[in-house]
Amino acid sequence: MTDRHVFLQIPGPTNIPPRILQSMNRPLINHRGPEFEVLMGECLSGLKRIYKTENDVIIFPGSGSGGLEAAIVNTLSPGDKVLSVQHGVFSQRFGDIAAAHGAVVEKIEVEWGRAVDPGVVLERLEKDRGHTIKAVLVSHNETSTCVINNVEAIGRGMAELGHPALFMVDAVSSLALANLETDSWHIDIAVSASQKGLMLPPGLAILSVSEKAWEAYVSAKMTRWFWDFRRMAVAEKQGRVPYTIPTSLLFGLREALSMIEAEGLENVFARHSMLARGVRGAFREMGLEILPPEEEASPAVTGVRIPLSIEWGHLNRALLEKGVVIGGGLGKLEGKIFRLGHMGWIFETELLGILSTLEASLAELGYKVEAGSAASGFARTKEV
Ligand SMILES: Cc1ncc(COP(=O)(O)O)c(C=O)c1O
Repeated sequence: MTDRHVFLQIPGPTNIPPRILQSMNRPLINHRGPEFEVLMGECLSGLKRIYKTENDVIIFPGSGSGGLEAAIVNTLSPGDKVLSVQHGVFSQRFGDIAAAHGAVVEKIEVEWGRAVDPGVVLERLEKDRGHTIKAVLVSHNETSTCVINNVEAIGRGMAELGHPALFMVDAVSSLALANLETDSWHIDIAVSASQKGLMLPPGLAILSVSEKAWEAYVSAKMTRWFWDFRRMAVAEKQGRVPYTIPTSLLFGLREALSMIEAEGLENVFARHSMLARGVRGAFREMGLEILPPEEEASPAVTGVRIPLSIEWGHLNRALLEKGVVIGGGLGKLEGKIFRLGHMGWIFETELLGILSTLEASLAELGYKVEAGSAASGFARTKEV
């Protein structure tokens, strides 16, 4: 391939803005020195604004899965029962991590491609009069099926019920992409990572931790060292770290937070919703089927059923030749859907080009599609 621009339209990692790349392209500093103290303080306070929380925010070196593990092992004991909503690869993973550490996992299984009905979760909790369920695990945005869950209804409902279970949310692919109100939605732990809405390379796991989660920490018996909340939180609050963290990513994080603040967090959400509506409209105009129903569709990634006449491998190759990288289906959706990420540093002009390239590639592979349908579908549906 020639040295051309490549559009990285997988659902994370995303295209990194030049401003962020430049901010990381500098000599390292002592991660036990005064400059680091300022940097860490700015990152933590900026993250709190994005999380909409007064809770502690903790940054670990690691990926999103590490953050999910940290949430589990700091708050639970082997034998504790957890309620795990599962409808895709990542929501299953959250439950699997709990099971791997000895939790008893009760699943609420939902069709892949659909969101969970908050009423089903709340009904189960209402029946749990003895309060045996210690935590509820939900993915905000299930990236493998391109579905967004109504975590607000679950969180507020749990608070109304007065059920004491911890509410743990996987916000890896929703932070800075979809509205997430950690405090008013009563989320005890929200787990995220650097490589999605924050537009950074992979390498940071980020968590918000409520007072209630800290209370659970005191009696939690699952073993931990690297992921220990207290060791990391105490150090970070003092502008230090107990072990080495990717400092370059913190320079990038500070830049990302300032970019998000300059655009305005609500404007970032509105841009993603607008682009996602346009993308779905474009695919429908091309005669393709979107996986989730409109009201459950993710603002950050769109899942599309691959027409029977087309093979995923051929479509992927045709796009790669044109410099567009999209995601395939995961788990039981492998080969059945493709996923177009539209998260982070992405705007209408690029998306129109990418969608038109998809249209042309499908046509090349023999799929009947009217030329120009991607652009006209996008333009017609992007506004509410
Ligand atoms: C919703 C969700 N949870 C968890 C993960 C796992 O994150 P990581 O691959 O950084 O471990 C991902 C990754 O795509 C994700 O989208």
